[in-house]
Amino acid sequence: MESDTMEADTMEADTMEADTMEAETVNAETMNAETMKAETVKAETMKADAMEMEMETETETGKIKVSEVIFDPDLYPREKWNSSTVNIYADSLQGGAKFPPLILQKGTNILLDGVHRWKSIEKYREKYEERKTQADTDNDRLEDWALPQDEVEVEYHIVPDGIPIKLYAASLSTRHGERITPADRKALAREIFEENPDFNLETLTRFIDVSKSTAANYVADIRARRKEAQKMVAYRLHRLGWTMEEIGETINLAKSNVSNICSEFPDLEKQNKSLLDSGIPHLDVAERFNMPLTLVWAVDLAGRTDEQRLDRLGIKIQPYDVWNFIRCHELFGNDYPGRIPGELIAHVLYFFTEPGDMVLDPMAGSGSTLDVCLAMGRKCYGYDIDNKYQRSDIIKHDLATAGWPERVKKANLIFWDPPYFEKIENRPKEKSYIDGSISKLSREEYLAFFTNRLSEASALVKKGTRLAFLMSDWDDGETQAERKNGETQNEGRKGIFLWDYANIISRAGWRLVRHIQVPLSTQQIHPDTVLKFRKSRRLARLERYLLVAEV
Ligand SMILES: C[S@@+](CC[C@H](N)C(=O)[O-])C[C@H]1O[C@@H](n2cnc3c(N)ncnc32)[C@H](O)[C@@H]1O
Repeated sequence: MESDTMEADTMEADTMEADTMEAETVNAETMNAETMKAETVKAETMKADAMEMEMETETETGKIKVSEVIFDPDLYPREKWNSSTVNIYADSLQGGAKFPPLILQKGTNILLDGVHRWKSIEKYREKYEERKTQADTDNDRLEDWALPQDEVEVEYHIVPDGIPIKLYAASLSTRHGERITPADRKALAREIFEENPDFNLETLTRFIDVSKSTAANYVADIRARRKEAQKMVAYRLHRLGWTMEEIGETINLAKSNVSNICSEFPDLEKQNKSLLDSGIPHLDVAERFNMPLTLVWAVDLAGRTDEQRLDRLGIKIQPYDVWNFIRCHELFGNDYPGRIPGELIAHVLYFFTEPGDMVLDPMAGSGSTLDVCLAMGRKCYGYDIDNKYQRSDIIKHDLATAGWPERVKKANLIFWDPPYFEKIENRPKEKSYIDGSISKLSREEYLAFFTNRLSEASALVKKGTRLAFLMSDWDDGETQAERKNGETQNEGRKGIFLWDYANIISRAGWRLVRHIQVPLSTQQIHPDTVLKFRKSRRLARLERYLLVAEV
């Protein structure tokens, strides 16, 4: 940091002090340019302190128009600035005081330090314009007033990586004297930790210049909440069969800390179980322990047989090759349009896996598969290109560009519920899939994607691994266009049908073993759509199939 800047900072700091004691008694003349110079020695000492605090940054000086300085109150570390300081500075500008450079962020011109100086330039311009409208007196001639500045000297700083701008700005006003108030420091510390509860406490301590214990006190409750949340995430992942390393990577903790957290689980489970056994509802237990409801259910169901689990969940197994589900079980997945009924996954797990098996869902969406596996005591890894609900158990992964994750080699079941191809233009924007989603591929690209990934999977997985592939026909009205016109005249695109998927799966080295119908409920089709289809003599799509294959 340049000494000139420190000079200005010191001036500002001292002014604040004076203001606090008795602002009215401060004579504007005491704040003239000479006083500022006198503070240079003090500023140099502070500069050394600042260096010690390892907060150096590259700086550059320059000149810009006053109007080009950007002041963002959200990035300013104090709740308010001191208007009497601004007035005092404005008065000193009248006598031609020269302020040291304002500090701006390089590249954005955001004001990091010197708001009082900057405001005083504006203030002085207003004062000067007003004075121009008045006549000179013996004691006050306009020609003695300095001309308002259009340009201002600035120093550009690069905010270090990983440091919020506001924190860096605060550090500029805390290195020399009691600059921002303890209340402002606390508010800033809390803001930073609310945004990122894993923010480094030592860094915070250095930048806002308080002791580590004070900084820890500022954010104690936020960190405690974070610890509890981490514990619950670790517990979920542990129940889903993830290793300590995998859990540690996900919640950003060392393996030893994860082991410590995990050692608390048996006790937690015991307490949960005894409350549940005494008849306390799951929801109450979840609230009492601040636990997600799915986890309370997982504790309740642990150690039970599949039949007992399904019975407690209220899922009645349909022992046919047609499964009907009226609605989505509320415990599984998040409420979004692509979500499938948890009961469907429970049926797949019941008929095609054993307790303790590992399930891999490469397109996990809202996480229904993970939730059902948690309840049914299966290990599970879920992936998606778009972690819509920011779930800690869904790993961000693009199956189209990155291929299969290593873990596929250990899977007993791949549960795959892909989106349709190229349907994006028919959907409202907020419901659409993100860039990179296979739903944006053309028919040919989409089919090639499945051909490649299914062939790779059959070569990677161990013998006996199963594939449960959920899909619907999609034809854009091709067949109906032909029938309507009586000759081959296709209005829609060429569709993708059950037989297309079945062909790809079997050519990719999988042996198809079951074909189960899982129709959508008629209740899911809006009455207006039903009417539209009836009138236009077209068939709405209710069919959905689950193709089960193995290697
Ligand atoms: C039909 S949804 C799955 C819904 C899920 N079964 C549920 O119940 O919530 C299909 C998912 O595939 C994901 N997806 C699309 N392209 C992908 C890609 N290239 N890699 C990984 N996931 C992808 C989408 O983001 C979407 O979440």
